Amino acid sequence: MPPPTTMPAWKSAWDAALYGPGGFFRTQSPAAHFRTSVHASPLFAAALVGLVRRTGLETVVDIGAGRGELLCQIQALEPSLNLLGVEVAPRPDGLDPAVGWTSALPESVDGLVVANEWLDNVPCHVVEVDPSGTVRVVHVDPATGEESLGAALDDRSVPRSLSAWCEAWWPMDRAEPGTRAEVGTSRDVAWADVVRRVGRGVAVAVDYGHTRASRPPFGTLRCYRDGREVDVVPDGSRDVTAHVAVDSVASRAGGEVLRQREALHRLGVSAQRPDLALATRDPHGYVAELSLATQAGELVAERGLGDFSWMVSAHPSLRDRIWT
Ligand SMILES: C[S@@+](CC[C@H](N)C(=O)[O-])C[C@H]1O[C@@H](n2cnc3c(N)ncnc32)[C@H](O)[C@@H]1O
Repeated sequence: MPPPTTMPAWKSAWDAALYGPGGFFRTQSPAAHFRTSVHASPLFAAALVGLVRRTGLETVVDIGAGRGELLCQIQALEPSLNLLGVEVAPRPDGLDPAVGWTSALPESVDGLVVANEWLDNVPCHVVEVDPSGTVRVVHVDPATGEESLGAALDDRSVPRSLSAWCEAWWPMDRAEPGTRAEVGTSRDVAWADVVRRVGRGVAVAVDYGHTRASRPPFGTLRCYRDGREVDVVPDGSRDVTAHVAVDSVASRAGGEVLRQREALHRLGVSAQRPDLALATRDPHGYVAELSLATQAGELVAERGLGDFSWMVSAHPSLRDRIWT
């Protein structure tokens, strides 16, 4: 039995580092530190506007809205929509007054709810197999990132939901010492809480992740700052992220999972380069189409944004209209 650790469990340290007083996301703009689909191309916003038009929805809520970049792009394409950003950071300077901004989830939404790269930033417990084969909760020193192992996963002090989740979604029996898992309960609960608020609408979470067939044996906990990967230390000076167990999230909320390249393809985003003959007929048109195809290429790239998962839950009356 290891000595009781005085360090916080990863989930608490992570939460304080990102969202505590002075936490990373309370002061830092995500775009200053990493590039998401929103920053890669306005085609991402255009695809979501396409989804809104197909379903006849009139409201878009962006959860984890950063500095409102996605909402601004959507507004430029479809100014009549009601737009709301949900974000722990304050309302960005200069945001159009017609765009709403809040730190609390709305009680109910009839419309499209989108959460791009939000769930990977929802803190979760981390567990690891110790040298004797026991799965234990991992604790961390917020100042140094030094880790220690705490209570066994089946200890009475650890919520039973953690071991139940691991059994169902990330089994660790007979795993080698050092094998880790990021326990998805908090992500499942967070997204299910969003989806239950959506009435006549569609909820789309987009994130990097894995499924039961492809869990990473040593976990995916990472930190980023200024566009670079840095040491994993939950000290408030850097982003802390881990991939999402997308199958578990979708199952809990009741929804389907598909890759971003497939979702964007169904929404009409094409990375096909224009016919060279167009270059002679209409050089400006050719350059414009080539630029769009290049942008689309980044959004659907293998081993890139195209591998992201879309977790989609829709009101029964809209399910057949999303992709047609
Ligand atoms: C990785 S950034 C993504 C920003 C943006 N969606 C994009 O794609 O560029 C995650 C954002 O989610 C916000 N966030 C995290 N948890 C939140 C919560 N519970 N409520 C509101 N915003 C949250 C963070 O402050 C951060 O701005």
